Amino acid sequence: MVRETRVTPAHLIYPLFVAPGQGVRREIPSLPGCFHLSPDEAAREAREVEGLGIGGVILFGLPKGKDPLGTEGYAEDGVVQEAVRAIRAACRDLLVFTDVCLCEYTSHGHCGVIADGEVKNDPTLELLSRMAVSHARAGAHVVAPSDMMDGRVGAIRRALDETGFADTPILSYAAKYASAFYGPFREAADSTPQFGDRRGYQMDPANVREALREVRLDVQEGADMLMVKPALPYLDVIRRVKDRFDLPVAAYQVSGEYAMIQAVDRNGWMEGEALMLETLTAIRRAGADVILTYFARQAAETLGR
Ligand code: PBG
Repeated sequence: MVRETRVTPAHLIYPLFVAPGQGVRREIPSLPGCFHLSPDEAAREAREVEGLGIGGVILFGLPKGKDPLGTEGYAEDGVVQEAVRAIRAACRDLLVFTDVCLCEYTSHGHCGVIADGEVKNDPTLELLSRMAVSHARAGAHVVAPSDMMDGRVGAIRRALDETGFADTPILSYAAKYASAFYGPFREAADSTPQFGDRRGYQMDPANVREALREVRLDVQEGADMLMVKPALPYLDVIRRVKDRFDLPVAAYQVSGEYAMIQAVDRNGWMEGEALMLETLTAIRRAGADVILTYFARQAAETLGR
């Protein structure tokens, strides 16, 4: 009765990896219990988790082919765009978020356009804007840029406003750290950079004042929700963002956080379900309004509505 922090399915956003084809449901080796799903299967999964009371899904795409400009990422018939349409047709209440980033679609695996061996910030903004608009046109409720280019929230906001999507909110991956915890995701999305790393655009794990500066810029550019990522190693950052800004805060319990818990559970070293509930509670206690987590389905089944 007097418990201060609650986790309910409505607080959770479930990440789905969408692959081309039909009837595809392939377990992801680095993320046991998660699947590559074709758009029809993604719609089925979304329908099921909607029935469990989960608040939303966020979609990541595995394109048919990759190229230096990530063109499938903003194609009207791209996998994510198709999955958004299928999920919107199948669900009533579930919120559909889309991840907006080039790295899943580029042959080099970077989150931006490459020239002279470097990621170029400003030319990337145009492509991210096209991707966000194509997601909104397909029916996405919320777009979520995860690339960490400077100025992308403002660029996406303008592009949405100019194309008739003034009411589509932006969940900004505002404080996204250059983290080793993304390893399993990069295997799942085949998005490991082919050269260099992401430290030129993602943040140094040692910095929290820099995180607040990044968040402030996104707020000024028009972000509607703010994300801190990863979650458990950055609880202090979640708390600082929550206390300083008056927008909803999301935290992403990322692939490595999930995979670690799965691994120790499989080894019999700790109990996975207890770790799941304790970590989700800790992330909420630190100030997260919503949590993106690969545990969403399992947690919802455990917690009930
Ligand atoms: C794309 C993106 C990444 C994640 C979400 N969007 C990977 C990265 O930055 O390399 C990571 C999610 C996870 O690890 O679960 N930029």
